[in-house]
Amino acid sequence: MTETLATARQLPTPDETWWRQAAVYQIYPRSFADSNGDGIGDLPGITSRIPYLAELGIDAVWLSPFYPSALADGGYDVDDYRNVDPRLGTLDDFDAMTQALHAAGIRLIVDIVPNHTSDRHEWFREALAAPKGSAARDRYIFRDGLGPDGAAPPADWVSTFGGPAWEPVGDGQWYFHFFAKEQPDLNWNNRQVHADFQQTLRFWSDRGVDGFRIDVAHGLAKDLGQDLPSQAELDATPKDGNHPLWDRDDVHDIYAGWRTVFNAYTPARTAVAEAWVASDRRARYASADGLGQAFNFDLLEADFDAGAFRDIITFNLGLAAESGSSTTWVFSNHDVVRHATRYGLPARNGDTAKQGSAWLLSGGTVPRLDAALGLRRARAATLLELALPGSAYLYQGEELGLQEVADIPAGQRQDPSFFRNPGVDMGRDGCRVPLPWTRAGASFGFGTGDAHLPQPAWFAESSVEAEDGVADSTLSMYRAALALRSRLQAAESLEWLETGREDVLAFRRPNGWTSITNFGTDPFTLPAGEVLLASAGLLPGSLPGSLPGSLPGAATAWLQL
Ligand code: NOJ
Repeated sequence: MTETLATARQLPTPDETWWRQAAVYQIYPRSFADSNGDGIGDLPGITSRIPYLAELGIDAVWLSPFYPSALADGGYDVDDYRNVDPRLGTLDDFDAMTQALHAAGIRLIVDIVPNHTSDRHEWFREALAAPKGSAARDRYIFRDGLGPDGAAPPADWVSTFGGPAWEPVGDGQWYFHFFAKEQPDLNWNNRQVHADFQQTLRFWSDRGVDGFRIDVAHGLAKDLGQDLPSQAELDATPKDGNHPLWDRDDVHDIYAGWRTVFNAYTPARTAVAEAWVASDRRARYASADGLGQAFNFDLLEADFDAGAFRDIITFNLGLAAESGSSTTWVFSNHDVVRHATRYGLPARNGDTAKQGSAWLLSGGTVPRLDAALGLRRARAATLLELALPGSAYLYQGEELGLQEVADIPAGQRQDPSFFRNPGVDMGRDGCRVPLPWTRAGASFGFGTGDAHLPQPAWFAESSVEAEDGVADSTLSMYRAALALRSRLQAAESLEWLETGREDVLAFRRPNGWTSITNFGTDPFTLPAGEVLLASAGLLPGSLPGSLPGSLPGAATAWLQL
C-alpha cells in the first residue's frame, strides 16, 4: 500500500506556492530512526521510513541539523555546513534520501544555523590561533576583557542557556556566545560570513533541497561598539528594531541577499524564520523580499482556551495578509514540552517562560499530570490547526500522541540548558527521546541497540505498531486528517461562525469545510452536515434521532456544511 502511495504522489513541477499551506513534519534526525544500531538516528534510517511519511500524508519534511557536530547543542553547533555528520551518513546518503522523498511527493527543508558556528568549525580554530585584531578573529565577536590583563569579561551578559555569555580565550580577549560556549556567534558585519552562507544555501539548493528553516533568524545582526551596555541596560532596551542584539531592522538586509539566491532557482527555494519576536514584528521576516515565511508560536504559547485561540488566529491571518505570506501554526517542536503534556498540566495564564518547567523539575510528579486530558486536548487542537489556512509544522512523535519524558536521569541528559542551569531548567531532552516504532525489541524498533536517550516502558503502547490500523488511535487521526486536508484544501481564509457559546469555536473555509472545537466540558450540539472526522467519539444528539450528534468537551469535529 505504501509503495503505491509513494509513487502516486509526484511533485507538481514547478509549483511556486507549495509551501503556503503545506503540512511540514519536523524530523530531529538523531532521534527518528537508527539504521546501523549505534543508538543515533541517521539519514538511511529516515530513507527507510519514507513509506511511513508518505502514508502519514505530509507535504514536506523539515530536517533539524544533520551536519558534523560535537552535539554540544543537539547539532545546532555546526562544525561544517556543507557536510553530513559521519554518524548520520554521507552526502551520498543525503542525496539518496532527497531523491526518495521527492519520489514520494515530499519536499525537503533543511535547518541553517547562521547565528553561530561550533567551536570546532575551521574558522573558529583559525580565530583562536590568530592574534587579536586579525581577519580570522573578525569573523566572530571578540572583545578585550576588562581590568588588568583583561581578566574580567567585557560585559556581564547572560547566555540564553544560562551562565556567562562571554568566554575568555587566554590572551586577554573574550568571545561572545548567545547560547552554549561551544557556539561562538558570527560577526555578520563581515562580508566573508555573508558570502559563505550564500554558498551554503546554493550548495544545498543545488542538491535539490526545497527550502530552509533559519535558526535564530532575529539574532544575526548586532551593533556592538567598544563600550558595551550592561545586561540590565540590554534588558531595559526596547526591541523596536534598534536593540543592540535582537531583532534589529538591519537583519533584513542579510535576507534580501538570500532572497536573490533563492529566486535564482525554479521553483524558488523557500525559507521560514525562527524568530521569537513580538507578533507585530514578525511580518518583516515573512515578506516576499526576505525569508518569505516565519514561525508563529502564539498558539504554542497559549493555554487551551477558546478566546485566546480565536484572537490569535484572527490576528495572525491579518499579519499574513499584510506580509503577503501565509501564516504558520506550531504546537510542538524540539525546544518545548510536547503539547499532549502541556495541555495536561495547569494553565500557564501567560507565564510562558515556565512552560512545564516546574513539572519537569519534579521529574514529572508535581503538579500531577492529567495525561489523558492532555492528549485529548492535543488531538482537538491539532484537528483545529490542520483546518486552518496556512502551513502546519508538526513535530515527530506528535502523530503518536507522545507525552514528554520527564524522568530522564541527570547522568543521561544531553541538553546544555540542563547543565548550564542546575536545578532551574531540566532542558529539552524530554521531547527528543527516540521514537518508538514497535511495541517491543531493542529501543522499540528505533534501532537494533539502545537509544541515545532512555525510552520509558510506556512508549510501547504509543508505538507506531501499537497505533497502526487502530481506528481511534492518534496516528489514525493524523493520517485521516492529513488526507482530508489535502483533498479539501481551500483558499487562504476563514469565516468565524456564531456558536452561542464562548467556549466553542467554529470556522468555515470558503469551500464549506468547517471545524468546530469544544474547549469546555458541556457537550455542544453539532449543526446538520456531514461529519468528516472527529478527535473524540461523538455523543448521541440531544433530540431523538437528531444528527449528527453532540461534540463532547475537549474535542474537534470537521464537517462539510
Ligand atoms: C533554536 C533551536 O531550535 C534550538 O534547538 C537551539 O538550541 C538554538 N536555536 C541555538 O541554535
